[in-house]
Amino acid sequence: TIYTASVTAPVNIATLKYWGKRDTKLNLPTNSSISVTLSQDDLRTLTSAATAPEFERDTLWLNGEPHSIDNERTQNCLRDLRQLRKELESKDTSLPTLSQWKLHIVSENNFPTAAGLASSAAGFAALVSAIAKLYQLPQSTSEISRIARKGSGSACRSLFGGYVAWEMGTAEDGHDSMAVQIADSSDWPQMKACVLVVSDIKKDVSSTQGMQLTVATSELFKERIEHVVPKRFEVMRKAIVEKDFASFAKETMMDSNSFHATCLDSFPPIFYMNDTSKHIISWCHSINQFYGETIVAYTFDAGPNAVLYYLAENELKLFAFIYKLFGSVPGWDKKFTVGQLEAFN
Ligand code: DP6
Repeated sequence: TIYTASVTAPVNIATLKYWGKRDTKLNLPTNSSISVTLSQDDLRTLTSAATAPEFERDTLWLNGEPHSIDNERTQNCLRDLRQLRKELESKDTSLPTLSQWKLHIVSENNFPTAAGLASSAAGFAALVSAIAKLYQLPQSTSEISRIARKGSGSACRSLFGGYVAWEMGTAEDGHDSMAVQIADSSDWPQMKACVLVVSDIKKDVSSTQGMQLTVATSELFKERIEHVVPKRFEVMRKAIVEKDFASFAKETMMDSNSFHATCLDSFPPIFYMNDTSKHIISWCHSINQFYGETIVAYTFDAGPNAVLYYLAENELKLFAFIYKLFGSVPGWDKKFTVGQLEAFN
């Protein structure tokens, strides 16, 4: 017999950034973070896992290509999942011994990996939840998110839809460092996100390397994790619960700027945004000023692409500007014309 399970996991984009680890093996962060999970229909990873007694070794296929499964992060996830399954089997000896069999895993993104969009988050979230489903693990989503965290920190947040917090925790073994849902997407369904793809060139400093350089060299980073983020976490959580877009937008933009400032304060400095990214920042402030109210927020991860958050009721107001400004942005490559501008819910 072959046992199989399939799941999808969506991309999440942080509005309060995770940047810095206190434990690099377990991906334990130096601060709590908050994100919005994008809709399943738009950016997601689909993963299927199969297991059978006759499988000879663990295998992984990513986007149609065989991929090494020997990396430490994937191995940590598989070990934890097998351990939980083993506990289940020892409690109920009538269960098939799936924990002892090899796994075949196939994973596919519905968006280009090269676009610099958080593919590792959706990837590890889907990998871990597919196997958890295959093993019929009774653990809660937050408990499973702890395992996804070991694959990639930001992956723990993709286990939930809607508005998600990753609570940093304080324990050395990381048992209290996991994701919890702040609000469901249906609690604030007017929220929309759109991705402005500025460049699809792969970033030269990975998040993993970049954040460790910041931890090691930036003085500004200490201020960020000790004072700025703890305060912002509470303000942003409240803004989400109360559906206060102006406050949510302000904290989101300020946190993106704070994170990129610590990158610049690293030594040698790390530049993730380019001139086009900076133009987008200026537009967003001009748009908000023009309307006399906050209708758009920008945020940038470890790359030059912008994610804009806005309320559905303001979509036309925002896109009127985006369409108009497109032609006049220096550095905006022709391939990113309005026709290819991707809007996601
Ligand atoms: C800027 O989760 O990719 O997107 O834990 O080393 O895999 P690892 O890092 P990763 O870092 C994401 C950084 C970020 C901010 C965020 O998503 O919170």
